[in-house]
Amino acid sequence: MISLNKISIAAVIVFILSVFSSEAKSPSSVPYNRKNGTIVLKTPRRPAGQQHALKLTADPIPEVRVGFIGVGSRGTGAVNRYVHIEGARIVAVCDLLQKNIDNVRNRLAKASYPSDVHYYVGEDSWKELCKRDDIDLVYICTDWVSHTPMAVYAMEQGKHVAVEVPAATSISECWQLVNTCERTRRHCMMLENCVYDFFELTTLAMARQGLFGEIYYGEGGYVHNLDAVWTRYWDNWRIKFNRDHRGDNYPTHGLGPLCQVFDIHRGDRMVRLVTMDSKPVHSAEKGKELVGAESFAEGDQTVTLIRTAKDKLIQIQHNVYASRPYSRLYALTGTDGYAVKYPEPRICLKPEKMPERIAYDDLGSEKFLPQKEFEALMALYEPEFVSQIKETAKRVGGHGGMDYIMDYRLVYCLKHGLPLDQDVYDAAEWCSLVELSRLSIEHGSAPVARPDFTRGYWDLLPGYTYGF
Ligand SMILES: NC(=O)c1ccc[n+]([C@@H]2O[C@H](COP(=O)([O-])OP(=O)(O)OC[C@H]3O[C@@H](n4cnc5c(N)ncnc54)[C@H](O)[C@@H]3O)[C@@H](O)[C@H]2O)c1
Repeated sequence: MISLNKISIAAVIVFILSVFSSEAKSPSSVPYNRKNGTIVLKTPRRPAGQQHALKLTADPIPEVRVGFIGVGSRGTGAVNRYVHIEGARIVAVCDLLQKNIDNVRNRLAKASYPSDVHYYVGEDSWKELCKRDDIDLVYICTDWVSHTPMAVYAMEQGKHVAVEVPAATSISECWQLVNTCERTRRHCMMLENCVYDFFELTTLAMARQGLFGEIYYGEGGYVHNLDAVWTRYWDNWRIKFNRDHRGDNYPTHGLGPLCQVFDIHRGDRMVRLVTMDSKPVHSAEKGKELVGAESFAEGDQTVTLIRTAKDKLIQIQHNVYASRPYSRLYALTGTDGYAVKYPEPRICLKPEKMPERIAYDDLGSEKFLPQKEFEALMALYEPEFVSQIKETAKRVGGHGGMDYIMDYRLVYCLKHGLPLDQDVYDAAEWCSLVELSRLSIEHGSAPVARPDFTRGYWDLLPGYTYGF
């Protein structure tokens, strides 16, 4: 009897401890189980007859006809850029709000753009746009939760898709994008512009040529105080999403460039992660102020560690609340060198790795290159296509030119029937962090296995390449 009581008391204590020590859990979008403590999500079978979409190509498109959905802040910027993109034509524009449509119409008129652009207003009018038979590419710049449904629908209407970051907000949505792209053979590119910034493009070229030796650690993130812009988002969609979702809700600006350096699904793959966050502080204040939130899910600071199949390590941070300067971190640590972008771009190399033609007074490998040598090195490794369009990119702009380079490359590849720089697996892998980071945090920072969205083909391609 005494021992039974002891067992009952112990059971009650264990129950109470488990209730108070475990994190609040929200449902996962696909079923999972635990294997040796690691959370493993179910991978849906590839439907019979469906092939992978690695190096997917489609017929060349002489003039890429584009329809834009969502012309708030980002979409209007995109339309402005497409006025300058050779080989592309703006065919249709759609938004919920008449004032946004009027704004775009006026801007196009001011730019003397041909006046035969079709305009759509209203909640479901984007479907009409997708159904048009004179559009090749649907370009989506709406709030996060509408991205995947719109992208899937557009692909099903036979259109290629370019969709803003993050393209998906759950693992289920990631699989929807992958399956629709594989089935319809339409391109689905996430508009991850940060892989086209000048430092990232050039250091990727350096990495591919072995300048840093073997790169085994990469740091990336999105640290950007949004206090000045929260109220500009239509219907407060962004703070509402962060209010309701714990984890790294905006991971792709930091993760994308690192995945290209690490040849993710082109010889390596991310196998597992763990995530921790700090408590919601300024996030909760903003939630209360903007949408009257009584509780707030997203912590101010979120940090994720990811291990790859080749035993490399990636660290990703997210913080849109801190009183500190903007940073995407972007740091590469290799056996022979180090590159870091923030607060100032810098490179450090083993002296023997320094190209002979750049005069260099040997400072040793623990010091950054002096500015003159740094600039000479950057010029030496800048990819040829970047040198060719750099001046136009800076003139047209969009985050200093990287947005132009992204659009230029997208249209160039569609025009020439080439695989796109970012495929649907990139979109899924980079976006999957949204739900996987939440799952890890909500299970006491448990390891989470990363799904293989290629379903077995992650080492088929020999490294990251551009199509020309
Ligand atoms: N890559 C980058 O550097 C970058 C920068 C800013 C924003 N973004 C991304 O761009 C997207 C849009 O951000 P934003 O700042 O322009 O937000 P925003 O709120 O200014 O614009 C969203 C627009 O979508 C429209 N919209 C919503 N539902 C619609 C529907 N059913 N049909 C038609 N239009 C609809 C809204 O009316 C609004 O004009 C987000 O995904 C954001 O993460 C990316």
